[in-house]
Amino acid sequence: MTILVTGSAGFIGSNFVLDWLSQSEENVVSLDLLTYAGNLENLSSLSNNPHQHFVQGNIGDQALITGLLKKYQVRAIINFAAESHVDRSIHESKDFIETNIVGTYNLLESSRSYWNDLDKNLKQNFRFLNISSDEVYGSLNSSDQPSNESDPYKPNSPYSASKAATDHLVRAWFQTYNLPVLTVNSANNYGPYQFPEKLIPLCILNALKAKPLPIYGDGQQIRDWLYVKDNCTAIREILKQGQIGETYNVGGWNEKTNLSVAETLCDILDELKPKLDSKSYRDQITFVQDRPGHDKRYAIDASKLERELGWKPQENFETGLRKTVIWYLENEAWINHVVSGEYQDWVQKQYS
Ligand code: NAD
Ligand code: DAU
Repeated sequence: MTILVTGSAGFIGSNFVLDWLSQSEENVVSLDLLTYAGNLENLSSLSNNPHQHFVQGNIGDQALITGLLKKYQVRAIINFAAESHVDRSIHESKDFIETNIVGTYNLLESSRSYWNDLDKNLKQNFRFLNISSDEVYGSLNSSDQPSNESDPYKPNSPYSASKAATDHLVRAWFQTYNLPVLTVNSANNYGPYQFPEKLIPLCILNALKAKPLPIYGDGQQIRDWLYVKDNCTAIREILKQGQIGETYNVGGWNEKTNLSVAETLCDILDELKPKLDSKSYRDQITFVQDRPGHDKRYAIDASKLERELGWKPQENFETGLRKTVIWYLENEAWINHVVSGEYQDWVQKQYS
């Protein structure tokens, strides 16, 4: 049988496909629209792998999706396809509504129509994995407990509102139609293949190019950092053992301020790629205008996943960040390809 991974040329989707095929021979239909964030180079090591079939397409295209589900007898869908960058959603939210909400609605409908026609055994084993975010819980105060699965949704950005809306649709398709869904709310991922619009790869690239490392506001906002391979392991476990209709939080137990993330990253670069003038990369940290509606703190209580499915992250922030920095240092060609064209337009729009 086969799994369908959408958004497979993006950051987490490509890491998931690479991780899946490194330990399984089960076929993957890998679907991506190849927006600015999708990069087939992320999957280039699989070009001769007969277990991966790449299709360029939209999750909102019901005819295409239903055709693929039938043709490959898909037993599970893992939906990573989305518009994912909060700052872009603040500039222009339309694509976030269309892809994250309407696109997922169409994907749910394609899945439901396919699933309805399956025989009993296949029907029972089918899964729809909805990949969501910790941002749906909204911003925490410093004294709040980390968010758990029963906390109310309080999204604050167009991006997080679109993810929250999607989660509600997915829940409704379970309650109303019994579609076997699971929702995964992950913390901030970092690691190889992340597009350099996000904080960590942006800071690595800017550091190496002697550009400012832009820190919004006072840099005291907190995020809970999760190494992407740990997230992939968690998602695999949830697919294997998760209870249908349930939600699982995935976090790294690594709460850090943005400023301390940038400083740690500079310290690693100082060690691995010292500057010719022996100064620290920390000198490039620059405070810039804050993000509108900037959420102060996210923190994830991932104890349900540990208690029920036995999952724990393997990396702490320092080990994960070191691996990430080494990956970017060793993949200059990948960087050079992604920082052309549209990326330059974005940097100009956001940081000028
Ligand atoms: P990304 O932006 O790197 O990748 C998204 C991928 O989806 C891209 O390859 C893009 O081409 C593709 N895509 C966009 N619209 C599509 C459409 N209509 N049809 C098919 N493909 C389409 O995002 P990411 O960081 O890999 O995030 C993946 C998922 O995980 C998203 O749902 C995001 O909301 C969620 N998430 C991300 C993080 C994180 O820290 N990056 C944390 C929690 C949850
Ligand atoms: O929490 C999960 C979410 O993490 C995912 O759902 C999103 O898809 C993903 O993009 C990410 O959202 P964030 O907004 O937290 O990630 P980002 O890397 O954009 O920003 C991380 C923090 O760093 C945030 O507090 C804003 C800040 N920041 C970001 C950028 C790009 C800066 O200070 N400067 C910057 O230039």
